[in-house]
Amino acid sequence: MTAEKPEENQAAKTPSDQPDETARREFIAKAVSVFAGGAIVSVPIGVGVATLLGPAFKEGQGGIKIRLAALEDLPGDGSPKLYQVVAERKDAWTKYPQKPIGSVFLQKLEDGGVIAFNSSCPHAGCSVGFKSKEVGYYCPCHESIFLLDGSRGDPCVSPRGLDSLEVDKERLNGGEVWVTFQNFAAGIEEKKAI
Ligand code: FES
Repeated sequence: MTAEKPEENQAAKTPSDQPDETARREFIAKAVSVFAGGAIVSVPIGVGVATLLGPAFKEGQGGIKIRLAALEDLPGDGSPKLYQVVAERKDAWTKYPQKPIGSVFLQKLEDGGVIAFNSSCPHAGCSVGFKSKEVGYYCPCHESIFLLDGSRGDPCVSPRGLDSLEVDKERLNGGEVWVTFQNFAAGIEEKKAI
């Protein structure tokens, strides 16, 4: 009697395989979201570069102030415009390569003010896209709608609306749009900086 040979391509799953698999699935979901978000967003994309002085970029330290646009660059009809936030790090001797750390939707209001939203979905961190002024924002990962003011629409599985970011009012009066960029914990009702 011969011992049964295990099938070669049926590797046994160990518990340690599962986190990798979960991470892989989350990565794919986010990649799909970025792709699908790109298909939805028909807004132009700008880039704001923050220069960070010091040894490292640390999140959860009150955010970073960054200039994203001139006020006149934003659409006058209230449609949002998406800005990628790129951080460039410098210390006394070295300038490190730029690294994207997130993106922000800017919307000009009728009264001349500006509102800013972090484009990361508060449900699980996928990239939110802009659909239309009538519908608002849309997250393709779990089909959630956010209204133009950032609040939860219908349907929406996110525990809170889009995360607004602080806009510097003084600089806005001078025609410049500066925001305090920050990321927030996903999946909870509370807006908690990370
Ligand atoms: S990540 Fe946006 S709805 Fe789930």
